[in-house]
Amino acid sequence: MSSDKSLRQAADSREFDLGVAVDPDALRNDVSYRARVRDEFNAVTPENALKMGPLRPTPDTYDFGDADAIVNFARANDMAVRGHTLVWHNQTPTWFQPWDYTDDQLAEFLREHIQTVAGRYRQTVDVWDVVNEAVDDDGTMRDTVWYEAMGETYLDRAFEWAHEVDPEADLYYNDYGADAVNEKSDAIYDLLERLLDRGVPIDGVGLQLHALGEWPDPESIAENIRRFQALGLDVQITEMDVAFPAGEAPEDALEQQAAFYRDVVEVCLDTGVDTLVTWGVGDANSWIRGFRDFAERYTGDPLLFDDRNQPKPAYHAVKDALDS
Ligand code: XIL
Repeated sequence: MSSDKSLRQAADSREFDLGVAVDPDALRNDVSYRARVRDEFNAVTPENALKMGPLRPTPDTYDFGDADAIVNFARANDMAVRGHTLVWHNQTPTWFQPWDYTDDQLAEFLREHIQTVAGRYRQTVDVWDVVNEAVDDDGTMRDTVWYEAMGETYLDRAFEWAHEVDPEADLYYNDYGADAVNEKSDAIYDLLERLLDRGVPIDGVGLQLHALGEWPDPESIAENIRRFQALGLDVQITEMDVAFPAGEAPEDALEQQAAFYRDVVEVCLDTGVDTLVTWGVGDANSWIRGFRDFAERYTGDPLLFDDRNQPKPAYHAVKDALDS
């Protein structure tokens, strides 16, 4: 049975950061959403507001309104903030056309972006996903605009630029599909080892843990976490959600989902991972419902709260695991 504590109290008492991806409009307009974020979590990640596209409406302007609203809410409620994300191939601004720039200009563009954004939130963002998803599903370096312009050293520069402007922040590499030991996490391990060998200021690796359709084996997640820790890196679970293949949810789907959430929290506690972020508050806000063809591929109920922001079995499972 779940105790009377809130999830946030259970997390606080373990000194565990239980975070949630948040949307600024829901935070402003939906009272029950806002209450859940504040009462049940002790950390937030802006789901989109700190990405390059949303921040850069035109080449010469930044719009920090949504990001500020989230960061201010977090600070007012004594919550930690994960900054997501400074360098990514997705969600670049619509006006941004790489062929308008030379390679040197692209590097300068990226430096200016990183230093403006990380500089602004120097006092308020604790952890940055500096680079997101630089490795492809087959383990090769993803062919992005940044990679084309600068080769692998775009990661070196990105971490250095962020560190220069915000030496206090913890700087992370973040990726999906690399939660357990597999071909992709092997490649990320090798990449991060190279960065460390080159003296790049990287503090940790974020494992997104979008368990969609297939769920990684908790033992393999633990083994994977331990090998990154052995490199001297911290590890966080940064974007967790848990869904079945569409049309294949078993009768006890919510209980199985809860058991997997519980297993992952236990892996965190066993391995000394102190942060787990769920990618949304309630199922109604989950990105799975609107992203590409995900709604056809996966069940649309991957989170701790249901469509009306009421706690699900997974909520109680996470709380019990933190409270035990
Ligand atoms: C997703 C958001 O949840 C959606 O709202 C948006 O349309 C697309 O991006 N990996 C990441 C996150 O690092 O930034 C993505 O977030 C989900 C996958």
